[in-house]
Amino acid sequence: MDSTFMTATAHTNIALIKYWGKKNAFLNLPTTSSLSLTLDRFYTTTSVSPSETSTDTFVLNEQVCDATRVHTFLKILRTQLGDFPPLHVSSDNHVPTSAGLASSASAFAALTGEVVAYLGLDLPKETLSRLARRGSGSASRSFFGHFAVWHEGVDDDSSFAESLHAPDMPIALIVAEVSGQSKKVGSSEGMMRAMTSPNYDDWVKQSANQFDDMTAAVANADIEKIGAIAENNALAMHALNLTATRQPFTYFTDETQLILSLIKDMRRQGILAYATLDAGPNVKIVTTKAQAPEIVAALHDYLPQLKLDVAVSGPGITYD
Ligand code: PMV
Repeated sequence: MDSTFMTATAHTNIALIKYWGKKNAFLNLPTTSSLSLTLDRFYTTTSVSPSETSTDTFVLNEQVCDATRVHTFLKILRTQLGDFPPLHVSSDNHVPTSAGLASSASAFAALTGEVVAYLGLDLPKETLSRLARRGSGSASRSFFGHFAVWHEGVDDDSSFAESLHAPDMPIALIVAEVSGQSKKVGSSEGMMRAMTSPNYDDWVKQSANQFDDMTAAVANADIEKIGAIAENNALAMHALNLTATRQPFTYFTDETQLILSLIKDMRRQGILAYATLDAGPNVKIVTTKAQAPEIVAALHDYLPQLKLDVAVSGPGITYD
């Protein structure tokens, strides 16, 4: 195989039970286990080749970019996998970059898979997951299709994601893109602030219970329950941001709030629709494939400018 021209493709994932806090920031060890759905629509493709300079270089969507974060991550891979010469990394992001749509998840998963394949190593996905975690925690979950769990673990070896065996189900996730602009509080900074909330320890305990309930709901393909637990978990996470004792903040905009209340209205009308939100103002709506068009139409009536995409369950990492 001429690995120089090989490309890795990893899809984004949306956490239904969130990662929001680190017990070890250097190793990216989370305070909770998390559980996600991989999406078909949003992904990153990455290829690597020898760098033509003496350092790592990075091109994103055909534009030369600052390679600092990529270089920092490649340095970690060099310590873990053995040294390798400077690389040229070329990525195409089919995800709005840094707008709370977890582009870092697909980006670091694709980069990890690509570098490992480029070096001719054959490592299990759980090991790739452990490595990618160091670039971005949520990337640990993007190697697996459908549902994945990231076990919080106690150290570098025990904190990795794996596939959660789950039946097929007609789950859909509508992404309402409130803002395509870069987020104002990065996820690591947001987590540090949230951990200063007096409610943080309770959230961690509640998250463990919700993780168990979510695992059962997924096993039963109970989309209503999956949505309800995901919404509770996400709103509690965002409440931590508001109640932080150090620099409280919110990712919500007026449009976010409006969408949340429209979702509540739809539920009153018997539509299965639940919200989850990440480190940004966008709202992701858990629903069924059958009900997604109705929700899209209703949101479009109120907010004609709102960009809406319907995603369904997506695949794990692939190479071609
Ligand atoms: O992977 P990071 O460091 O970008 O953190 C992601 C955090 C959330 O998206 C808000 C939650 C999650 O579990 O993906």
